Amino acid sequence: MPSRKSPVELFEEGQRVNICAPMVRYSKLPFRELVRNYNVDLCYTPMILADVFKSSTYARDSDFTTNERDDPVIIQFAANNAKDLVEAAELAAPYVNGIDINCGCPQKWALQEHIGAFLMTEPETVRDMVHSVKAHVDIPCSVKIRIHPDLKETYEFVKRAEAAGADFITVHGRTRKQKSSEPVNLDAIRFVKEVASVPVVANGDVFSLTEAEDVFDKTGVNGVMAARGILQNPALFAGDKHTPWECIERYIKLALGYGTNTFIFHHHLMYMFEDVMSNAERKTFNCLSSVPAILDHLEKYWDLDVARVMA
Ligand SMILES: Cc1cc2nc3c(=O)[nH]c(=O)nc-3n(C[C@H](O)[C@H](O)[C@H](O)COP(=O)(O)O)c2cc1C
Repeated sequence: MPSRKSPVELFEEGQRVNICAPMVRYSKLPFRELVRNYNVDLCYTPMILADVFKSSTYARDSDFTTNERDDPVIIQFAANNAKDLVEAAELAAPYVNGIDINCGCPQKWALQEHIGAFLMTEPETVRDMVHSVKAHVDIPCSVKIRIHPDLKETYEFVKRAEAAGADFITVHGRTRKQKSSEPVNLDAIRFVKEVASVPVVANGDVFSLTEAEDVFDKTGVNGVMAARGILQNPALFAGDKHTPWECIERYIKLALGYGTNTFIFHHHLMYMFEDVMSNAERKTFNCLSSVPAILDHLEKYWDLDVARVMA
């Protein structure tokens, strides 16, 4: 298998690295392939539970599909101990360019499982995880974090992760308790960039290329990651203000070509059409319940030519 480019080399090139965020359900292979057409340099898989991934072939096959075009890609794991993480990382390593540890998921079930944002209060556990991955797997290991209410704790956390060998750090500039409607703290991201000796990626509230440029300039980071913005407009990093029609066609071709479940297919299209459909149409569209019904709607009202798209 040809060797894959390290994401660290991307950061060393000195340009802003445009990144598609890990998104449960959504940042799967068809979407990753889609956004790579629109100036995305690096993609993440959705968060995958390390203990499930390492124990079940079925889970591995359903949680993670990839191919030779899916490069560079980082697999993101949620784990609460180094052993599960290393076993999952060893299985994934031949197919990915890096392993990321989720320290940001704020959902109740995740906190109960001691994964995700729970780890922001467990810097020693994260240090052990990074250290163990680096000792067993020869590809970069990164952490995706949130900020603490007291940035001194973020400083300590980052320093421990770095000392254990973390190759880069992504900072979602909100605390665990902040809602996504609250503005992201760019000063905190800049603080992390200033104190870190490894590359830093900024995450939060990037909905356009102008905002990506702005975050990059204001924080001095190495890369900018978008989640909700790129769901709504996969061509965000190419400078399109709204999802271009050809992007929708490309998504349909990729999703149907690879095979997708109806929920994910429908929701991707709901996001992409969010700001272009009228309220009345959106109400109808969002209630459709099968792939044929969705395609019929787009053929009728948007002149989609499924036969041409799939040819
Ligand atoms: C639908 C959805 C799924 C997400 N899934 C993940 C995930 O699997 N792993 C993760 O670290 N963050 C996940 N997040 C959080 C995003 O990666 C990102 O940190 C957050 O949405 C802030 O970025 P944004 O303002 O660009 O949306 C998810 C966010 C959304 C909207």
